[in-house]
Amino acid sequence: MFPSPIIAAPMAGGTTTTELALAAQLAGAFPFAAGGYKSAEALAAHIAPLRAAGGDFGVNLFVPRTGPLPSGDAAALERYRRELSADAEALGAVVPAVSPPQEDPRSTDYWEEKVELLLNEPVPLLSFTFGLGPAALVARLHKAGTRVVASVTSVPEALAAAETGVDALVVQHSNAGGHSAAFLPPSGAGAPSVLELVAAVRAAVGLPLAGAGGIGTAATARAVLAAGAEAVQLGTALLRTDESGARALHKDALADPQFSETAVTRAFTGKPARALVNGFVRRHSATAPNAYPEVHFATAPLRAAAAAAGDREMLNLWAGTAWQSAQSGPVADVVKGFLAGL
Ligand SMILES: Cc1cc2nc3c(=O)[nH]c(=O)nc-3n(C[C@H](O)[C@H](O)[C@H](O)COP(=O)(O)O)c2cc1C
Repeated sequence: MFPSPIIAAPMAGGTTTTELALAAQLAGAFPFAAGGYKSAEALAAHIAPLRAAGGDFGVNLFVPRTGPLPSGDAAALERYRRELSADAEALGAVVPAVSPPQEDPRSTDYWEEKVELLLNEPVPLLSFTFGLGPAALVARLHKAGTRVVASVTSVPEALAAAETGVDALVVQHSNAGGHSAAFLPPSGAGAPSVLELVAAVRAAVGLPLAGAGGIGTAATARAVLAAGAEAVQLGTALLRTDESGARALHKDALADPQFSETAVTRAFTGKPARALVNGFVRRHSATAPNAYPEVHFATAPLRAAAAAAGDREMLNLWAGTAWQSAQSGPVADVVKGFLAGL
């Protein structure tokens, strides 16, 4: 299913550059392009060199929420916008009073136009996160020759994903950096690590699996493969590489011992995501509402101003729990290091 046991995760928001994906592919990993936050036009440009290279690769899309924000969350969003105004003022930014309307393609992350693009000009593999692609769409993608992968964070999500006819699952543990792929409310305590989660999903579903979340060393990767995954998906391990488009502020923070922990927070986007704990995470995690992408749009001007000002205390410094193992240097060295240690 995956031609390599090492997968370079899709990392939207600028981290996965075309150069990162190509270098990972050349070094022997299966590369993902990041479709999230991109228009169809921007996605087409991002993947054109991967198409031209002629190798196997994947594209990842965010599945948008259907329907409006529940009213309780909408009220919490209003309170949160007011709460953010002090930070905004300090940065010389303004919290937008409203989110893009439903008819604005940004509100669904350009879902319709990107799906149309990928049906008309198929790619080898498409993965979804934040939700499931409908079974009818999975069937159309198969007809177009595209393998389809769902991202899941629990056994119930894995079972629901299998129902849609996908070919494989990315099994993401909450140790992962960046956004959680979760689309169902969590039930129970959750698996203590990606190992246990992969083993639990392995026992429940017959599909090929890739494990993800907190995999910082080849030894952990080996253990995840032994637990029943055929590949591991690495995100944080690639964040500091030369080809990564992460900001220098972000790359430096990952190597700075002043940051001593990560936490899962809705503070930046309204969706749970794991980041280095900074001032923004401390101030807002308890109150940030369950409102994605509305909170993403509300904090966007703050994050832009913080980046321009070099203020890492206000930035979303995505990081998985194994962030201290992330190395700088060429992506090929990281990929080859993992492959050699399997
Ligand atoms: C900066 C960053 C951006 C990410 N963006 C995406 C994304 O666009 N789509 C996606 O499916 N997963 C995304 N992820 C999650 C990865 O696919 C993967 O599950 C995660 O990085 C694995 O955990 P690790 O970071 O501990 O290696 C992102 C992760 C990071 C760190």
